[in-house]
Amino acid sequence: MKIIKERKILQLELNNIQKDDSNSVGFIPTMGALHKGHISLLEKAKTQNKINIVSIFVNPTQFNNSNDLVNYPRTIEEDIDKLEKAGCDIAFIPEAKDVYQENTIIKDDFNFGHIENVMEGKYRKGHFRGVAMVVNIFFELIKPNRAYFGMKDYQQLLIIKSLAHEFHPNIEIIPCNIFRENDGLAMSSRNTLLTNVQREKAPLIYEILKKAKNKFKGIEIDELKEWVNKEFKKDADFNLEYFEIADSDNLILAENKHTHKSLIAFVAVNLGKIRLIDNIPIN
Ligand code: PAF
Repeated sequence: MKIIKERKILQLELNNIQKDDSNSVGFIPTMGALHKGHISLLEKAKTQNKINIVSIFVNPTQFNNSNDLVNYPRTIEEDIDKLEKAGCDIAFIPEAKDVYQENTIIKDDFNFGHIENVMEGKYRKGHFRGVAMVVNIFFELIKPNRAYFGMKDYQQLLIIKSLAHEFHPNIEIIPCNIFRENDGLAMSSRNTLLTNVQREKAPLIYEILKKAKNKFKGIEIDELKEWVNKEFKKDADFNLEYFEIADSDNLILAENKHTHKSLIAFVAVNLGKIRLIDNIPIN
């Protein structure tokens, strides 16, 4: 595996790779603290591309809270080791000053409408435009044939699809299933920040989502939201930020369950100081 830290070096490497039309390139952007979910994206990419590139970059422009940026887990040596073992071809690990050069498209150049304003977008102002900025830079540089995104961050996936549709129509965006721990907790780099007690409690999030799915047929959406609220209130360590049911195509929030073909239930919850998200198809 090649470890590349500079854009210009990656560009030279890519010039060589992309000279040969048969060399398809897969790209997995990450912020590091890699877990099995990230590795599953790489595994999928390996079945579809000849060369696979994983970026590790904790992107400052997508954090709306400076403490969150400082505390984001960083495990670069372990990450490199995991990528090497998993058969990654190139690990791209740039510095912020190299990523954000002059003439970078800025946040105001993007507008994703409704999908950037609900749920994560409502509670993390500017987050998705920061994601779009960095992914746009990486897409322009790498020009992959395919890029891989996990469905735990479903709203991010729709933002990226919209970005690709507008600016990078040749890049195929590949959604990948949520990867869960044995006890159901959705894998996330942030899980490593949980205390032992919090980690034991965290599977409740998916338990509640599964129960909500079972209840969905026999209950109105308002009642279901109330029920979820009450369930989280039973343990003071959980602080529910939102529970929403939204259309899987456009994230229109559903008020009436009969008017949408495909709905997903989304949750964001603080467990102590750690913010976790998850989702489940509900109808
Ligand atoms: O999902 C993430 O880890 C990040 O938002 C991404 C896509 C790597 C952009 O920084």
